[in-house]
Parts: sequence; C-alpha cells; structure tokens
Amino acid sequence: MSVSPTAGWSAAYTRYTSGAILLHWTIALAILFQLAVGLAMVHLDAMPDALRFALFQWHKTIGILVLCLTLARIAWRLVNPPPALAPTTSRAERAASGLVHLAFYALMLFVPLSGWLLVSAAAAGIPTYLFLIDSLEWPHLPVAALLPSMDAAALEDVLGFAHKWLALSFLGLLVLHVAGALKHSLVDAVPSFSRMLPHHGMARPQTRLIAIPIALAVVLSALGGGLVAGQSDALVAAEATRADRAMVAPDAGPAGGDWIVDPAQSQLGFETQFSGKTLTGTIGTWQADVRFSPEALDLAEASIAIDAASIAVDNSFVAPQVQGADGFASATHPTVTLQLGDFRAVEAGYEAGGTLTIKEKSLPVTVHFRFERNNNGTAHVTGSATVDRTAFDLGVANDPTGQYLDKAVTIRFELVAVPAGAAAAGS
Ligand code: HEM
Repeated sequence: MSVSPTAGWSAAYTRYTSGAILLHWTIALAILFQLAVGLAMVHLDAMPDALRFALFQWHKTIGILVLCLTLARIAWRLVNPPPALAPTTSRAERAASGLVHLAFYALMLFVPLSGWLLVSAAAAGIPTYLFLIDSLEWPHLPVAALLPSMDAAALEDVLGFAHKWLALSFLGLLVLHVAGALKHSLVDAVPSFSRMLPHHGMARPQTRLIAIPIALAVVLSALGGGLVAGQSDALVAAEATRADRAMVAPDAGPAGGDWIVDPAQSQLGFETQFSGKTLTGTIGTWQADVRFSPEALDLAEASIAIDAASIAVDNSFVAPQVQGADGFASATHPTVTLQLGDFRAVEAGYEAGGTLTIKEKSLPVTVHFRFERNNNGTAHVTGSATVDRTAFDLGVANDPTGQYLDKAVTIRFELVAVPAGAAAAGS
C-alpha cells in the first residue's frame, strides 16, 4: 500500500489566505500586462503612435497600481504570514524559495518606482493621469532637483536602463518561481500550485480579518496621498504658468490702421494634431492694427501683438508645457508678434508675407485670407498660416520629431472690423 508523502502533516499544510491569493493573482496579471505592454510600446515600430501614446498612459496607471497593491500585499503578509513549507522541503530549497520571494517583493517595489522616477525625470514632461482622467493627476518626483549635478539626459538614460533591466528580471524570477513549484508538485508530490488557488480542497488557513481594513487603508492612503500631491503639483504649475500680471492686450504698434478690429466678434487660435486627435489652441488677449484696402494692396500692412500668457490648449497632456521654457516661455517672452507687409491678390483671396516672432525668434510666414465687406461697412476676414513649431523652439525638448505632437501648426483667424472713421464717428 502506497503512503501519501503528506500523510501525517497534511492537515497543517494549508493553502494561502484568500486575501493573499487575491492580491497574488491581481499583481501577477498586472505585471504580465506591464511586461507585454512595456515591450510592445517601446519596440513595436509598426504600432500607430496614437495607440503607443495611449498604451504609455495605461502602462503608467497599471504600474502605479502595482506599487500600491504591493504595499497592501506586504501589509497583508505581515498580519497573515504565509503558511509553513512542507516539512520535506530541504534547507537549501527553503533558502532558495525565501530568496526568490524576497527578490519578487524587491522588484514589485523597485520596477514601478524606477518607472515613476523615469517619467519624473523625462524631458518630455508628460503628466501622468491615472486611468487617463485629467482630474486624477499623479505627481512627478523631484528627481532633477534632488540630483542637480547630474546631466538631465544622462539621468533619463540611467533610469531608463534601470527600469528596463529590473523589469526584465521579473522573467528570470518567474522561471525560478515556476520551476520551484513544479519540483514540489511533480518530484516531491507535495501540492504547491494549489496552495495559491482559492478552492482546491486544501485546508483553509485561519485569516486574521484585521488585515482587510489594514490592506485597504494602505492602498487608499498610497493612492489618495499621491492624488492629493498631484493636485497640489497641478495647482503650483498652473500658478507658475499664469503671468504675474493682469493680462493686457499688448501694443500692436503705432495705431494708424484704417480698420478697428472688434475683439468680441473676432477669434484668433491655432490647431495641430496630438496623438491622432486635433488639438485646439486659443489666444485670449491680442491687439491688431490693420491698414488694408483691396484697391491699394501696396499700402496694406498689419500687425498683431499677442499676450503669450493668454495662449492655452485644450489638451491636458500638452497644457502644462505651453507656458514653460519649452513652450512660449511667457514669463521671459511676454509677447508674440505677427507683422505683415507684402500683400497680393491670389485666386482664392489674398496672400500676405511677413514675420512671426516667438521667443525673440523671427521667421518668415505667409498668411492666406479672404476679405469680405458687408453692406453695413464692416469687414469680415478669415485666414490661416501654417508654421513649423520646432523652427520657433516650441516643444523641442518634449517632442522634437513630431512623433506625438505634429510639427505643423495652423494658425487660424476670423476678424470682424469696422472702418476706423466709422468707429470714431460712432463713438
Ligand atoms: C510592475 C510594473 C512595471 C513593469 C513590469 C514595467 C515594465 C516595463 C518594460 C518591460 C518596459 C520596456 C523597457 C524596454 O524594453 O526598454 C517598460 C518601459 C517603460 N515603463 Fe514600465 N513597467 C512597470 C511600471 C512602470 C511605471 C509605474 C511607470 C511610470 C509611472 C513606467 C514607465 C515606463 C516608461 C516611461 C517606459 C518607456 C521607457 C523607454 O522609452 O525607454 N513603468 N516598462
């Protein structure tokens, strides 16, 4: 008659507690997802960039969740220690299993932490919104401030290298982990995998239920603390980007134009593509001085002065950079100007050549527009001009190649103006 290897001690050889099992499989699936998504988003060149961008954001969200769940898993384990190993397990096997488990916990903490440090140090400065929800901003760690002597690009490289190789170490550990469990099950004939399964006819361990509120408190305070810090980061950033002055329309040059542009009925803005979607920019405060008559194009001229601090975009991933050094740097370069002089009639309306100045960098630009005079004497002008943002040093640290944020930006305007004489007469 064969005797079961567990005979005599099987009653004391229990499975893990239900909480440990739930956390084990949730974290394990999340890590497998992270490995697959991390490798795909970095190495699959054929992937459309819009999908790559979305995967990056999900990768950050799930990674942060892994970090918070790992803290809960540690808390659970402290309250409910794992069940004892089978008495047949040799000392060497006990030591090996202990080391593998310790290494798993270290990676579960340091892989997400290194990813978090990496995005915090990245020149791209893309914010982290959990679940891609704007109100759930996760803070970035002050890595560059803590290591001021280190070159920013070198720091990013080191963190990228660490994140990649720590993450890939999970695969090596997984092989050891599964090999150990297989050895117990197949060679020692001691149930091993089933200890981590919820219903497998094994003895249920005693669970200290106090671990449930403790684990929940750990997850909620880690997530909640991060989100609160993210909110205050967002407020500080918004405060820092707001110009330290009341927004006043900058001077568009010596007034002498023959049209008075009505800002209430006019619009100035721009458009580009970000991660496969249209990104719209608004320009809140500006002043235009226009001299134009279709009959005297050689005398036509226009200048528009824009308060750089009033420029905003409708995309929360790009918005934090708009006013910063990689954006319009409005704190040091408060005005953007467009000067137009060389007017000519073309088939679809008119064209004007001139200069656009952003951050003291002046480059030639061509504006296309239509000019219509209404019966009541007002003029309606619609037009556009397309520029390369990188030529003006806009978003070059963030995305120099236009991978996510298109390099081509189309400035659009719709102006309603009254003849200067009529405005003066009416006032
Ligand atoms: C368990 C958690 C995580 C795992 C297993 C994981 C795994 C990976 C892997 C395998 C890669 C590809 C590395 C390469 O081949 O270069 C990667 C890249 C990346 N991960 Fe994670 N990651 C985790 C958490 C995080 C977190 C929490 C963040 C940020 C909040 C993050 C940010 C990134 C970034 C930005 C990259 C791209 C690096 C590059 O472009 O070179 N990861 N991750």
